[in-house]
Amino acid sequence: MVIKKIAILFSGEGSNLEKLLTSLHNKVFEHCKIEVVTTICNRPNVAGIEKSRAYGIEPLIIDHTLFKSREAFDEALVEAIVKSGAELTVLAGFMRFLTPYFTKQVKAINLHPSLLPLFKGGSAIKESFNSPMKVAGISVHYVSEELDGGEIIAQRCFEKIEEMSFEDFEAKIHALEHELLPETVKNLLNRN
Ligand code: GRF
Repeated sequence: MVIKKIAILFSGEGSNLEKLLTSLHNKVFEHCKIEVVTTICNRPNVAGIEKSRAYGIEPLIIDHTLFKSREAFDEALVEAIVKSGAELTVLAGFMRFLTPYFTKQVKAINLHPSLLPLFKGGSAIKESFNSPMKVAGISVHYVSEELDGGEIIAQRCFEKIEEMSFEDFEAKIHALEHELLPETVKNLLNRN
């Protein structure tokens, strides 16, 4: 049985981290077993830390505020990921810009709460909610030097209903994320 190792990076609540752990960690699929070998968080006191611990994985805290430059932080990230042996790194709510030092060395995918290439950046949910578009959605894409700009791997969309509140809209986005990210990781790794 081939074991495919992944690293998960997160910054906050960790609901996507949790879904990845529930649906993929130590699970056997047709062509491989997936193992989450490390989880890494850039903030010391966030809810996702306990979620990782609940699966027996002590997260590595790499606090970005302790580094003098983005590159120095990225060096620490890359070192930890390489050491873990992960072949794929999943950014699940990881809220840092990554430098070319990272993107050139690590094969990574990111989850973004909009239909890219629309609404890049940190206000995607709000911008997509307020836009005149009749559909909204989410994307999983490869991480490149350009923020939210790498090749799109998978997307899901839904129709915006006029009476939908912002809270309902956001909940719909998160529900789709929780399905699509684990499914995409599985599809990328579970190949011959
Ligand atoms: C998700 O909406 C993701 O798209 C965005 O940050 C959020 C993370 O949520 N990049 P969580 O920490 O996984 O709950």
